[in-house]
Amino acid sequence: MKIGVLTGGGDCPGLNAVIRGVVRKSLLLGYEVVGIKNGWRGLLDKNYYTLDHAAISGILHRGGTILGSSRTNLYEKGKNYYQQAIDNYKEIGLDALIAIGGEDTLGVASKLYKDGLNVVGVPKTIDNDLSGTDYTFGFDTAVNIATDAIDRLHTTAESHNRVIVVEVMGRHAGWIALYSGLAGGADITLIPEKPFKIKDVCDVIRTRHARGKLFSIVVVSEGAKINTEDEHDKDGSFVLQNLKKDSFGHVALGGIGNIVAEEIEKETGYETRAVVLGHIQRGGTPTAADRVLGSRFGIKATELVEAKDFGKMVALNGAKIVSVSLEEAVGTLKTVDDETYNEAQTLFG
Ligand code: F6P
Repeated sequence: MKIGVLTGGGDCPGLNAVIRGVVRKSLLLGYEVVGIKNGWRGLLDKNYYTLDHAAISGILHRGGTILGSSRTNLYEKGKNYYQQAIDNYKEIGLDALIAIGGEDTLGVASKLYKDGLNVVGVPKTIDNDLSGTDYTFGFDTAVNIATDAIDRLHTTAESHNRVIVVEVMGRHAGWIALYSGLAGGADITLIPEKPFKIKDVCDVIRTRHARGKLFSIVVVSEGAKINTEDEHDKDGSFVLQNLKKDSFGHVALGGIGNIVAEEIEKETGYETRAVVLGHIQRGGTPTAADRVLGSRFGIKATELVEAKDFGKMVALNGAKIVSVSLEEAVGTLKTVDDETYNEAQTLFG
């Protein structure tokens, strides 16, 4: 059995733990593993190398991915990439392919499975927005980094009687914002699922002032949307960093933190600063939880290959690692539900 493994999309802490889990389990089963470089791009370029014990030694605690990553859409309209990828899969002599990625990478994996390849998916993203799994690895690390930042910003906000707006990642899902806001004791958390009014944010801050709390921390997700007073704009729209789309059609979000900070200062008169955490949330050492989840996902993915149970994605269900249909998992995004939001909202202010 010859298995290929690749990592696609934005990198995230814990990827190396998955790769190690795949290789260690495969070697125990007597399989050969090749690492395909730079996501789907590597399958197009036939850019791969053998992963043996030496290749995966000392990588468990390292962030990023030893295989490299890219946002390559094999099914981009007008291109014939997927046919080339299928031909290369056969030419390399692969019996199965383990794709580690988020909605985009796994969306391609699901289509390749329908086009006849033996594919298994592993859910990866700091955004935690994949359906079918309770959590993705990388999320815990991102939340811990954001929480540490909020803790630090608290002490400086308090010293200067300032409002500090912290912008976190998460694309169209507010999980990172909500969890780090909860853990860090944010005074209000703004997420894409709940378009907000600046006036309401300012009311929370003013109420705190009236209680003698002269500083506030506002966590805002990069995808949060401002609901203006205009009745045609009640759902708001995304703030974009630039309009250039990647090959999956995504624009770069970001910049809402600065806008929210300016508006708060204008409306309340309180000195306000904005901090954008950006890619710091994706870098560095994975937490123990992400190393464990990644390792378990890697082992389970290899077991699915052994059982020839293709077209599946490994997933966390409670404390158990299970498998779900890849097609269903990539069908809809998992966004923040009302119940979870309402819990968090109880602690605003
Ligand atoms: O999906 C992970 C993520 O970090 C999102 O939270 C963010 O919007 C996006 O990737 C950033 O992408 P890039 O690394 O291409 O700037």
